[in-house]
Amino acid sequence: MSGNPYQDDRGNKDATITNPNGGGEMTPAVGTGKDMNTTDAFLVGDSMTGGYGKDGPDILHDCTIAVNPGEIAVIVGPNGAGKSTGMKAVFGMLNLRQGSVRLDGEDITNLSPQNRVAKGMGFVPQTNNIFTSMTVEENLEMGAFIRKDDFADTMEQVYHLFPILKEKRNQPAGELSGGQRQQVAVGRSLMTQPKVLMLDEPTAGVSPIVMDELFDRIIEVSRTGIPILMVEQNARQALEIADKGYVLVQGRNAFTGTGKDLLADEDVRKSFLGG
Ligand SMILES: Nc1ncnc2c1ncn2[C@@H]1O[C@H](COP(=O)(O)OP(=O)(O)OP(=O)(O)O)[C@@H](O)[C@H]1O
Ligand SMILES: [Mg+2]
Repeated sequence: MSGNPYQDDRGNKDATITNPNGGGEMTPAVGTGKDMNTTDAFLVGDSMTGGYGKDGPDILHDCTIAVNPGEIAVIVGPNGAGKSTGMKAVFGMLNLRQGSVRLDGEDITNLSPQNRVAKGMGFVPQTNNIFTSMTVEENLEMGAFIRKDDFADTMEQVYHLFPILKEKRNQPAGELSGGQRQQVAVGRSLMTQPKVLMLDEPTAGVSPIVMDELFDRIIEVSRTGIPILMVEQNARQALEIADKGYVLVQGRNAFTGTGKDLLADEDVRKSFLGG
């Protein structure tokens, strides 16, 4: 428990399981965020400053997060650092005072979240990300709400990715385990056939084994060509599979680099990875 009313479902803190997959080709030095080429990124929240409501204090300060095709980009940082706020800002749930959001070269800063979904953004929020009283299949159908075409194939793809969901298709989603619920949430967002997927702590509250399985599925999704921008509490494990990593502190970019570089960086290790 963090004592933060917006965050009461922490992920596990087990640091013994790592995933050997991942690791990108980029080798820029670890830096504060401006040194990685984000200008032309497929999805970028660029130099975002803003907070909640009209007059709320700024939570994000000149914060930049971005992801490119073929990449898994991971945002880590302490509780309350603004990771979820950064995701919400990219998804259009926050009024930015400064900065912009661009998707595939288009400025979408002023689009509503719903219009961003129509543009190809999939977002799985940190909490309340499924309809617990609806069945698994109804959740997936809800995910396809903006589609006018036949989405049966997409549903089969989701069931192929998460076979347990097919087995439990007629059960209320609220009866599923934590890891299975997260599969429902990810599956639901895949139903729109997004061009980019944003996941806020997809492994919160699950066991290390389930976390590893979820990461494997996320890697699988990324291999289908969908760029993935995700927030993770399990920083070390997430950076293992990250092509690009962002460490946020107090709404600012503290460190940015490849997952590998961040894992190797002494300051990052000491301050955020437990040594
Ligand atoms: N809806 C909201 N209205 C006002 N302030 C908020 C809201 N949501 C979050 N905040 C505040 O914004 C700051 C950043 O919170 P945020 O949830 O983005 O952090 P986080 O990095 O995602 O933390 P965690 O690791 O606990 O999920 C905190 O001070 C929090 O209290
Ligand atoms: Mg959060």
